[in-house]
Amino acid sequence: MLADIVEHLACPVCRQPVRLEHRSLRCANGHGYDVAKQGYVSLLVGSRPPGTADSAAMVEARAGFLDAGHYAPLARALARSVRARIEGERVPPDFRTESFAHSPDDGSVKAYGGAEVSFGHETRLVGPIVVDAGAGTGYYLAAVLEATARGVGMAFDVSKHAVRRAARAHPRMGAFVADVWRPLPILDRTADVVINVFAPRNGPEFRRILRPGGAVLVVTPAPEHLSPLVEELGLLSVDADKERRVARSLEGFTETDRQEVGFDMELGPADVLAVVGMGPSAWHTDTSRLQERISSFFSRSVAKNREKVVTRAEFHLSTFEVTSRSSDGA
Ligand SMILES: C[S@@+](CC[C@H](N)C(=O)[O-])C[C@H]1O[C@@H](n2cnc3c(N)ncnc32)[C@H](O)[C@@H]1O
Ligand SMILES: [Zn+2]
Repeated sequence: MLADIVEHLACPVCRQPVRLEHRSLRCANGHGYDVAKQGYVSLLVGSRPPGTADSAAMVEARAGFLDAGHYAPLARALARSVRARIEGERVPPDFRTESFAHSPDDGSVKAYGGAEVSFGHETRLVGPIVVDAGAGTGYYLAAVLEATARGVGMAFDVSKHAVRRAARAHPRMGAFVADVWRPLPILDRTADVVINVFAPRNGPEFRRILRPGGAVLVVTPAPEHLSPLVEELGLLSVDADKERRVARSLEGFTETDRQEVGFDMELGPADVLAVVGMGPSAWHTDTSRLQERISSFFSRSVAKNREKVVTRAEFHLSTFEVTSRSSDGA
């Protein structure tokens, strides 16, 4: 677990900072959270978690589909947008420095992202913090961190199956089980960017954890997403009110940018099963009936000499910035 990450966490019980002691996180009031052997920490406390955590099967379907690269263009678009926000950002010299034991180089001054960082004078720069709310397997956050040389990632998801994978997704990422609908276990004004990809949002909490000038980048499916599978297999379609619901959930933010990200994918039957199994229809569809529908769809398509179906991926990538902070005194 990176010390850089632990210092931004808040105890989910008393909201105080936590420290890493041996293999657990502890606050000054004695609340403790063990680091699991897979490297993640559960910060879920109190009453029952919501019943919306992805199951082991959904996480496996998602991991397989994402690892095959079908949504790679979306990951690239998101990584580019985050990088454009956080690189080139000038960090004041006395800000976000901390002592560290081993100097990584000869003490030369390095320029990075517009910030001059003096290594070898017992200081180092803690990189921009990217929080992923509803991170799943950490696939998108890993792509974002990979595109930024110093970015540090905090992945939160209520599914421990997902978080176990996120804990291994990138060396600059920490992964935590937490419920996005409750107060997030993060200190105020920590995040440079919050990313939120097909996952629940918590506007007031996003606002609290963002640094001034920070933003939330939200990815939602657009109406043509997964066409023609939606019609052919009777899947849940994108709710026409989706955009309005996203905006409502981010009250106090203004949408300052919106990109349409669209591309075609060539999917075989196993990919189709995975994309359905990882999405909202998985909650409502019986797997054996779905498999029958997929076989029948492919036999119709294969009759037209196609073993793969061209399927549309279409998303909105929106940037939301805090409109005003008058209520929290900034
Ligand atoms: C559709 S998946 C998207 C995961 C990931 N962003 C991705 O695109 O690969 C939705 C994720 O939200 C998580 N989730 C659902 N309710 C949640 C909550 N209340 N708090 C945190 N995560 C939640 C699920 O466990 C699941 O991993
Ligand atoms: Zn505590």
